Amino acid sequence: MSTVAVIGAGYVGATTAACLAWLGHDVTCADIDATRIDRLAAGQVPVLEEHLADLVAAGLAAGRLRFVTDSAAASGAADFVFLCVPTPAGATGAADLSAVDAVCRRIAPHLRPGAVVVNKSTMPVGSVRRVASALAEAGAVPGRYGVASNPEFLCEGRAVRNFLEPDRIVIGADDPAVAERVRRLYREIDAPVVVTDPESAEMIKYAANAYLATRVTFVNSIAALCEQVGADVADVMVGMGHDRRIGSRFLAPGPGYGGSCLPKDVAALTHVAERVGADADMLRAVMRTNERQRRRVVETAKRLVGGRLDGAVVAVWGLTFKAGTDDLRDSPALDIAERLVDAGAIVRAYDPAGGARAAVLVPGLDVVASPYLACKEADLLLVLTEWDDFRHLDFGRVHQVMAVPAVLDTRNVLDPDLLRALRFSYTGNGRR
Ligand code: UDX
Repeated sequence: MSTVAVIGAGYVGATTAACLAWLGHDVTCADIDATRIDRLAAGQVPVLEEHLADLVAAGLAAGRLRFVTDSAAASGAADFVFLCVPTPAGATGAADLSAVDAVCRRIAPHLRPGAVVVNKSTMPVGSVRRVASALAEAGAVPGRYGVASNPEFLCEGRAVRNFLEPDRIVIGADDPAVAERVRRLYREIDAPVVVTDPESAEMIKYAANAYLATRVTFVNSIAALCEQVGADVADVMVGMGHDRRIGSRFLAPGPGYGGSCLPKDVAALTHVAERVGADADMLRAVMRTNERQRRRVVETAKRLVGGRLDGAVVAVWGLTFKAGTDDLRDSPALDIAERLVDAGAIVRAYDPAGGARAAVLVPGLDVVASPYLACKEADLLLVLTEWDDFRHLDFGRVHQVMAVPAVLDTRNVLDPDLLRALRFSYTGNGRR
């Protein structure tokens, strides 16, 4: 059992803290947001993460998990200090590491001899060296602490499962003893462990996310092509997925990738590539195509309401960046809803995770509490996230309340045969 400080209590930090406590370590999670800390200390989890509330409750009850605002004190008592603070994309696409730098300044004077600082948040290649320098500049004595990269591969909504049942654990450190100490933190977890140098560990994370973004973008491009040539992307992806080199997961068309990670990470990797003079054309093309996908959805919606969005009534199901989360950050759904409002459409949106904050982010967007109310007098129902709830709704009732029974299903989540039998006009994404 080790003593761990986790700095940052977002979905990565809170998940990391709760799971390390579950694995038997003594964990103190610190965040500057006192409200968030108070809620977590009371067992209230402010993010929609399956099982996280249970693990937080278990850690609090066992006295192995606590939430504080003082990161310096937490770090001063720890063998390991996990950095789980936000690293958002800056204006140029480069990762903004100001929060990381601030934490290094705050904890450096308090680090115990032999402590290991662990970069858990996604940080650009070279960040282990940057953190080591920042700690030294702030008074930590070089040689008396270690720094390692241990990137998170947590999908929002499934973060706990991803942490405790990972496809792999990646550790990047120059000192093999430091790497081994980090590896032992996870000894209860049965998963491949990749131990490498810091730069390679950091690149594994970016390359993985850039590949996932490329894969989604590829699927969306093939879906558009399928529509033009009369193929069905659902069957095409099944046929592709049987190839073991390709696999069948992460091949679902949609309104484009979004969220707090993929867009940021593709932009950051592109920035690094261009800064060092490497070929960034493919990454640039992925970002451009992803942006175009959002516009394509708006254009298709416009066509389906007769060519004019101004005054059209559009029902939107789904505002978050994907199903299973309440996260609106860089959500293609929210972006598309905003573009529809800006084009003069009357947009009523429903989201199972609430989406109440969406009405604040997009003035003029009417967020309602019922999927049927959203469809009232609508000329089009636009499905933008793949919530399973949508499949089981009463489409006879939807048909009754809509002005025009037309559906644009960007996630291919609904049943075309059922809807057509109920006399809807159904348009999927890449479907025949
Ligand atoms: C991602 C990575 O998967 C995870 O490993 C990393 O740690 C954080 O970033 P997340 O952002 O939670 O996780 O979402 P993910 O489930 O990967 O989906 C990313 C985007 O791609 C979403 O907008 C999603 O809707 C879209 N997507 C995903 C598709 O459009 N089709 C798919 O088949 C899968």
